[in-house]
Amino acid sequence: MSYFKLLGLEKEPFSSSPDPEFLYLSREYDLALTNILIELRLKRGLTVILGDVGTGKTTLSRKLVKELSEREDFIFHVILNPIFESEKEFLFALTRNFEVPLSQSYQNITVSEIRDSFEKFLLHNTRVKNKTVVVIIDEAQKLSEKELESLRILLNYETNEYKLIQLVLLGQLELYSRILQMSNFYDRIDFKYTLNPLGYEETKEMIVYRLSKAGYMGNISLFLDEAIRDIYYYTKGYPRGIIRVCHKCLRALVMSKVKTVVDKQLVFDVIEEDSVSKWRHAGVKHE
Ligand SMILES: Nc1ncnc2c1ncn2[C@@H]1O[C@H](COP(=O)(O)OP(=O)(O)OP(=O)(O)O)[C@@H](O)[C@H]1O
Ligand SMILES: [Mg+2]
Repeated sequence: MSYFKLLGLEKEPFSSSPDPEFLYLSREYDLALTNILIELRLKRGLTVILGDVGTGKTTLSRKLVKELSEREDFIFHVILNPIFESEKEFLFALTRNFEVPLSQSYQNITVSEIRDSFEKFLLHNTRVKNKTVVVIIDEAQKLSEKELESLRILLNYETNEYKLIQLVLLGQLELYSRILQMSNFYDRIDFKYTLNPLGYEETKEMIVYRLSKAGYMGNISLFLDEAIRDIYYYTKGYPRGIIRVCHKCLRALVMSKVKTVVDKQLVFDVIEEDSVSKWRHAGVKHE
């Protein structure tokens, strides 16, 4: 039997997958999401979401995808890992994903021919079919300068009122320093937002939220306040760390046989084990 069923839960509460159903909309996330949607509606072109490792960028992108799939006037595509061998491969992949008809095979077609076909596709879909075409790129810090430049050119496709393509780039903080050096690209950003780690109250709300989403109906919280406080101090409010530690705490709770809630001592033991395993992963000997 899964450990979470033993705690009376229907689902795994602290799974590491970026499931939008488990996204706790903190004030920051809500602000980011609302603004992205506004930018897309206004067809302003370029949105950049930055955040340190594990702050929830991929989770936010999944939530965005969920929101867009519920609306008929959007056509979108998500690129999860933007590593391409050349600009041609990048543009070809983009057009293929939107099923844009191309005049030639990959071997024979030129970059500018791919661009022309894509522009026709964008014009037809935005002006004739009244759609908003969106490309969401996660892990955008992996985009090469060539690819960023290629995206910049796509942003030049516009009417008097709006851009024909909407780009949402989500990436780690290094993306920003890269873009800063490309003033042409930087100038085109319409909305930039940085996701920060959660505060203590938000950490608590996220834990409670995920437990309730997993079907927890108990009267008392599975995590004492003292436990949540230590989880917050240890993880510094980074969602990925919180999820990992909470997951380990619940597993330890099930194993303990005497405890019925996660308390300070249990968190202490988990944190000790967690930091040792992190050192090990980093290849450092722990005395
Ligand atoms: N607001 C949130 N509510 C609930 N869970 C969250 C939230 N943000 C992140 N998480 C959880 O934290 C973990 C890490 O999130 P995610 O993978 O989205 O981070 P990331 O910023 O994309 O990290 P990376 O920089 O490594 O790509 C996931 O398990 C996700 O479910
Ligand atoms: Mg990610």
